[in-house]
Amino acid sequence: MRFHLVSIFPHYFESPLSSGLMGKAVETGLVEFDHVDVRHFAGGVHKSVDDRPFGGGPGMLLKLDPMVKALGSIERPGRIMMLSPRGKPLNQARSRELALEEDVTLICGRYEGIDERLLDLYDIEMVSVGDFVLNGGEAGAVCLIESVARLLPGFMGHTDSGDEESFSAGLLEYPHYTRPDDWDGLTVPEVLRSGDHGKICQWRRERSLDATLRDRPDLLPTASLTVEDVDYLRKQSRTRLGRNLYIALCHYPVLNKFGEKVAVSVTNLDLHDMARVTRTYGLGGFYATTPIEDQQALAEQLLAHWKQGAGAKANPDRAEALSKVKVFDDIEAAILDITRQTGQCPRLAATSARLDRRKEAEPATTYGTVRKWLENSPVLLVFGTGHGLAEEILSRAEGILRPIRYLDDYNHLSVRSAVAITVDRLIADEY
Ligand SMILES: C[S@@+](CC[C@H](N)C(=O)[O-])C[C@H]1O[C@@H](n2cnc3c(N)ncnc32)[C@H](O)[C@@H]1O
Repeated sequence: MRFHLVSIFPHYFESPLSSGLMGKAVETGLVEFDHVDVRHFAGGVHKSVDDRPFGGGPGMLLKLDPMVKALGSIERPGRIMMLSPRGKPLNQARSRELALEEDVTLICGRYEGIDERLLDLYDIEMVSVGDFVLNGGEAGAVCLIESVARLLPGFMGHTDSGDEESFSAGLLEYPHYTRPDDWDGLTVPEVLRSGDHGKICQWRRERSLDATLRDRPDLLPTASLTVEDVDYLRKQSRTRLGRNLYIALCHYPVLNKFGEKVAVSVTNLDLHDMARVTRTYGLGGFYATTPIEDQQALAEQLLAHWKQGAGAKANPDRAEALSKVKVFDDIEAAILDITRQTGQCPRLAATSARLDRRKEAEPATTYGTVRKWLENSPVLLVFGTGHGLAEEILSRAEGILRPIRYLDDYNHLSVRSAVAITVDRLIADEY
């Protein structure tokens, strides 16, 4: 496989591409590097490769002309990739795909990047090595080359080494140990010395699952898990963010379709479905708030049906869910109740189907932000009935989540659906 490295600092690659297994792969001809020094293609006495950006702003840009000439000098460039934080992220699947190519060209940017017109002239895929900014594309190119080259047959000693590693099955890898088996009292797990391959295999799989659940739970939804894996994971303790999340369904003050402040009736469906979400996601609790006494009485009567009445006999699991519901006058009473239970005043987040245009310059609160809050504080997430929460509740909240389907013009979900979607986005299976 041949990598064409387009860079203004070709010497950067000297050590990383000649050390260890990579050095051997070059010696045996498995991997070849073709260094294309952009400066050779620069004109003028100073061989200048950069210039100031149009429109102003800090830093310099790599000029178009030397880049075009440098790329044009490569006889068989194959897939052309540009290292850039704007690119799609590099991952194991993409590396596997690239390992099937004969030629790959890697363009390494420097300064603020490269004149964008290069992308009009060539079919260039942008690739990022992570959500951070490096000084130049060379370090990223080395990451890409290493991850691709080691997948080439013959690069590593054992052809199956690549299959056992982190990300191969969508999980992080298990820990390894080597001699001595006792280092100043620090011993190697007994099972690894047992010679029992079945047990070793199971131990390794379980450690992979532990590591992934602990450090990269975000990988679990796409990992291929067996039924045994799932049974194992279910028994493990994990951060249950849901315990800190409380939801409230506010029946007053909310808006009607004319934008007037009104009270909306309590419904069995809302109480019922939101209680089931509360139980399913292990939430701290669910508050139905209305200051109207007969509405409170109606809510209590509905709850009693499911908790003690005929509903409880027919569906005992509903009683379990509905016992999570408390009927209070208003959001303030819910906040007090949570403070009493947890010893901490909850952070208040609101939801709306409409984009918050009051503070145009301020970005909406993200799901990630609320998930962070949940790590060390109770959070009360308020949903509105009718046409949404009134201004006084929205402005009381520390943050308003961006509406579900905010990029489309129709997003009129029932509050029950909105609750289910929002809670799932905040607390996925792995939390
Ligand atoms: C200082 S960076 C330019 C950053 C650019 N102004 C931006 O904000 O997207 C210079 C060069 O480093 C490389 N680079 C920086 N971060 C990278 C990353 N995360 N992945 C891949 N390449 C990166 C790119 O080639 C980039 O053109």
